[in-house]
Amino acid sequence: MMSEMAKVQEISETAESDKPVRDLKYNNIFSDIKKYGVMPVLRTRLRTSLVSLRRLYLVKVWGMDIHPDTLISLKVNLDRSYPKGIHIGEGTAISFDAVVLTHDFVRGMHVDTYVGKFCQIGARSIIMPGLKVGDHCVIGAGTVVTKDVPPNSLVVGNPGRILRKNIKTGYWGKVLDKGEPADAE
Ligand SMILES: CC(C)(COP(=O)(O)OP(=O)(O)OC[C@H]1O[C@@H](n2cnc3c(N)ncnc32)[C@H](O)[C@@H]1OP(=O)(O)O)[C@@H](O)C(=O)NCCC(=O)NCCS
Repeated sequence: MMSEMAKVQEISETAESDKPVRDLKYNNIFSDIKKYGVMPVLRTRLRTSLVSLRRLYLVKVWGMDIHPDTLISLKVNLDRSYPKGIHIGEGTAISFDAVVLTHDFVRGMHVDTYVGKFCQIGARSIIMPGLKVGDHCVIGAGTVVTKDVPPNSLVVGNPGRILRKNIKTGYWGKVLDKGEPADAE
């Protein structure tokens, strides 16, 4: 049985070995155009710059804690009622129309919400205020996360339920190992 430390080490190494996914923007522009076409390459390059600028704006102007190595879609809604409560880790991607909340008027709370490293937060999902999504997690499209998510979990549905455990992910939450069903012994 692999020790917990060995597992963490293996996951970190696997994530590191996935670096080319993160470095796509540094490929030769002409070979990219030949492979993908002009418009997708221009879109990707322009978008990459806009995403970086927006991250700087969110960090410098709003005081959010967003690691430089993240991919936050331009259409993500990060709660500005309590912006300092937003924490997003290295290698994590948040897809379009996802919402990360740090306040709840109804319950009168302004709290810190954490998304760990190497996660994928799927399109149109909602992370409720005050929760922690662990490192190496995948949150499926449209999921409503209502409880803390342990590291290395895949969560889907409303309310979100853990579908798979011990998954391994690389940059932007790309699944490298599907782990096992959450109900497996
Ligand atoms: C979560 C996800 C990664 C699961 O993919 P997968 O491991 O291939 O899972 P499967 O398609 O085999 O589905 C397994 C089960 O989960 C369910 N399921 C999958 N995704 C779901 C979702 N987002 N919400 C609710 N249920 C979901 C399936 O219906 C299936 O249920 P069943 O076993 O009762 O039939 C994928 O569905 C997803 O949501 N990806 C994110 C897509 C996205 O947001 N893209 C934006 C740009 S990256």
